[in-house]
Amino acid sequence: FQPKALAGKRLLITAGPTFEAIDPVRGITNLSSGKMGFAIARAAQEAGAEVTLVAGPVALDTPRHVRRIDVKSALQMHDAVLPLAAAHDVFVATAAVADWRPASSAGEKIKKDGSGQVPAIAFTENPDILAAVARLPQPPYCVGFAAESHDLARHAREKRLRKGVPLIVGNLGPATFGRDDNTLLLVDDAGERELPTADKLSLARALVAEIATRLAASTPK
Ligand code: C5P
Repeated sequence: FQPKALAGKRLLITAGPTFEAIDPVRGITNLSSGKMGFAIARAAQEAGAEVTLVAGPVALDTPRHVRRIDVKSALQMHDAVLPLAAAHDVFVATAAVADWRPASSAGEKIKKDGSGQVPAIAFTENPDILAAVARLPQPPYCVGFAAESHDLARHAREKRLRKGVPLIVGNLGPATFGRDDNTLLLVDDAGERELPTADKLSLARALVAEIATRLAASTPK
């Protein structure tokens, strides 16, 4: 009998884009589909973990036996994640969190006034959810994602140190957003390891196995 790799472990995961309101009917978002994060949530649940999935606006079904919390904005995602993080063994940040949000959201729809003038939108920075979790006094094992258009390995190594997390997973190859397959590059203190191109569920299962191995090695007996 082979015990499941994440039996008895609690895993918290963010997925999807965020939506930053400009006014009640408009906002700024991005093309993240949430597919990779939802696949990891499913794979972790299959591996025996108790999974909490904090999801931005996506059109995906909740994986079986996964607890799902829906949010819209980066601030809502931050406020959902932070109080839960310490009670989890693993935190996986797959969400494509907006770096900036409009500094203020208009209470009413901004109207065209016919003068040809365009509104100016001032932005403010969103909190970095992953870095905030990694800074907790007793953080869960933190896994970050990196989507870069060039120099992925170098950026992933830098991101790992900057965010203070043990493992960064890079999306190799162009235009992973919305696709069903992906190629991953794992960067940790031991170096780099590629998980070859596969559908996102197969990759999610391979990644969950890699996380389980590292978690076992990092947890004091
Ligand atoms: O800094 P960058 O956005 O490139 O880092 C990506 C990683 O950090 C992803 O794991 C993403 O989920 C996480 N992140 C976050 N909160 C932010 C920005 C990014 O958790 N505000």
